[in-house]
Amino acid sequence: MEKKKIMTIFGTRPEAIKMAPIIKEIEKDVRFESCVVVTAQHREMLDQVLETFAIKTDYDLNIMTPNQTLAAITSRSIALLDDVFDQVKPDMVLVHGDTTTTFAAALTAFYHQIPIGHVEAGLRTYDKYSPFPEEMNRQMTDALADLYFAPTSLSRDNLLKANYDASQIYVTGNSAIDALAYTVTPEFSHEALKNSEAKKILITMHRRENLGQNMMQVFRAINQILDNHANIEIIFPMHKNPKIRALISTHLKPSSRLHLIEPLDVFEFHNLAKRSDLILTDSGGIQEEAPSLGVPVLVLRESTERPEGVAAGTLKVVGTFEEDVVSAVDGLLSDPVAYEKMATAQNPYGDGKTSERIVSIIARYFDSTVEILPEFSDKTNPNRKGNPDEKKLVD
Ligand code: UD1
Ligand code: UDP
Repeated sequence: MEKKKIMTIFGTRPEAIKMAPIIKEIEKDVRFESCVVVTAQHREMLDQVLETFAIKTDYDLNIMTPNQTLAAITSRSIALLDDVFDQVKPDMVLVHGDTTTTFAAALTAFYHQIPIGHVEAGLRTYDKYSPFPEEMNRQMTDALADLYFAPTSLSRDNLLKANYDASQIYVTGNSAIDALAYTVTPEFSHEALKNSEAKKILITMHRRENLGQNMMQVFRAINQILDNHANIEIIFPMHKNPKIRALISTHLKPSSRLHLIEPLDVFEFHNLAKRSDLILTDSGGIQEEAPSLGVPVLVLRESTERPEGVAAGTLKVVGTFEEDVVSAVDGLLSDPVAYEKMATAQNPYGDGKTSERIVSIIARYFDSTVEILPEFSDKTNPNRKGNPDEKKLVD
């Protein structure tokens, strides 16, 4: 097969973490030439990941501005990617998930009639405004894609329901699990873990739909939790968004047991998460990682596009009401049986071979004689009955 030019495009921290193992796999495959393009919709938080995984970028569009609008991210990305496509002429573009970079890159690739592979395709809440704008970003990206790398059988089912062609959809697992193999280590220490007697709660919050009232309520819940329990410490790596920082400084009561820290690089975050007793988050990626880390997660959202983790038992969706958050934390920390059940659930999101699988599927796209790995077999699809026959992809 003639060497094919595969362009990966991403812009934010989570996309970078989940694309990194795929880029590594493309780089070591002689059938491909890798071209890495970042919009840098995130700056510092993206650079942390690029450094941890030693990823060299070929094009850095550097679009981020403070308090950027969705329209600005979209229009700046499209205008700059247009030129990059003219220069590089890739054979395939890979985008990830549901950020505005993802949608803008897919749309521009479509304008250039370049095949699009959508990594982490098929996640859905079916609620246009939650998460906002991610639900529509992923639906619109799926509408433009040519290859769908669905992480689970549930995400495959979502794509089939939308009438996408089954022959273009592959259940691959989630490359978030591959990334953990690069980061999690038995040797790790951090200043915030110093008090070994205290229980550690790790919190992250950043979703646009949670800005305002929802975050205020959660922050009041944190104040209550710290007041009620002398043996709890809270570690809060704060997103760089200035709107979130303003809410934190106005609504969180200072405490020596509240560690407000800068975003952690992904090596530190994964290791610190693994050593936490409980995670409170509205993040998508952390919901996928937690079952592998063996840490229960209370999801600070009204709904999740990751019901596999709820079915597996690691995630509980608690919303953002102050009293709901307080009672969910109290309930879990005072019930060792319920806690243990959440902490020992099986990971429904991947087996660590997602990147290898995806790269073999890309090779098959260009050469139908190429053998590809069997699909990721997930057993926790809530819609699944009995023991269905897995589609085997090896000829
Ligand atoms: C973005 C994605 C969201 C993803 C999240 C991961 C969109 C619309 N949103 O949301 O899907 O879950 O990233 O974290 O695509 N900032 C910095 N430095 C950084 C990063 C952000 O200063 O490294 C500040 C800037 O002021 C920026 C603001 O945060 O304008 C918001 O960033 P943006 O990418 O627009 O939105 P997120 O909420 O991060
Ligand atoms: N993460 C990180 N440092 C932090 C917080 C999170 O490296 O301080 C990682 C986390 O392990 C996960 C990803 O960032 O892989 C999640 O990113 P985020 O919550 O920003 O976005 P989402 O997944 O919600 O799109």
